[in-house]
Amino acid sequence: MSGFDTDAEPADSRAPVRLWDWPIRLVHWSFVLLMPALWWTFRSGRMETHELLGYITLGLLVFRIFWGFAGGSTARFSAFVKGPRAVARYARSLFGEPGEPVVGHNPLGGWSALVLLGLIISEVGLGLFAQDTDGIVSGPLTRYVSYEIADRARDLHELGFNLLLGFIALHVAAILFYLLVKRDNLVGPMITGQKRMAALPSPPTFAAWRRIAIGAVLGAGAAWWVSLGCPL
Ligand code: HEM
Repeated sequence: MSGFDTDAEPADSRAPVRLWDWPIRLVHWSFVLLMPALWWTFRSGRMETHELLGYITLGLLVFRIFWGFAGGSTARFSAFVKGPRAVARYARSLFGEPGEPVVGHNPLGGWSALVLLGLIISEVGLGLFAQDTDGIVSGPLTRYVSYEIADRARDLHELGFNLLLGFIALHVAAILFYLLVKRDNLVGPMITGQKRMAALPSPPTFAAWRRIAIGAVLGAGAAWWVSLGCPL
């Protein structure tokens, strides 16, 4: 054996970088569990549990919106919602020369996150005003709208879920594309919060604990207030 090992892999100069804080990960994996649970409780007629899960989803959404303004640098909407030029440039780079490493959501992923969050928000919103076909089971806010609007909200609530399913399928397909074609595992960082990356000029920054507490109180308070029918 010679002293030179020409097949040796070059040393990996990348180091683990903290990318996603735990609130982002907790909210994300809660959605992953909540969406099928909401579907199943609806299908099996367990409407009380369906409503309860809906309020939990509402609380998490309020937290995530708060976190989009007050959370760490990778959670903020201002950091990942980019204009059409940046999206087009990034989309071109997907099939050409790799560009700069992206910290957090890439310009396409940012829009996908926004669309998914928007669809979950509309689902929860419609559910609050919806009633079942006999008008017996109804959301906490149906009393503020007419019978016809509550009926329409139910139809849109069902339609919206199919739309959400379609986008979730696209979301998972995009993650598989990154894994299999781009050899970039996005799932690991969404679980552990960390990703191995080359040294970054400005690593992500994270928010203090008291902000998590404020967001949690806001989310839980909003869900509770809405579940009571928004009394004034
Ligand atoms: C019910 C199904 C799902 C929903 C509603 C959902 C929703 C979302 C949302 C809203 C985000 C943005 C995160 C944020 O900024 O807060 C996101 C990101 C992400 N999701 Fe999901 N997701 C779902 C299923 C999955 C599954 C099954 C996986 C893994 C196979 C996954 C992996 C990821 C990853 C890796 C990211 C970060 C992407 C990036 O690096 O930009 N998601 N998802």
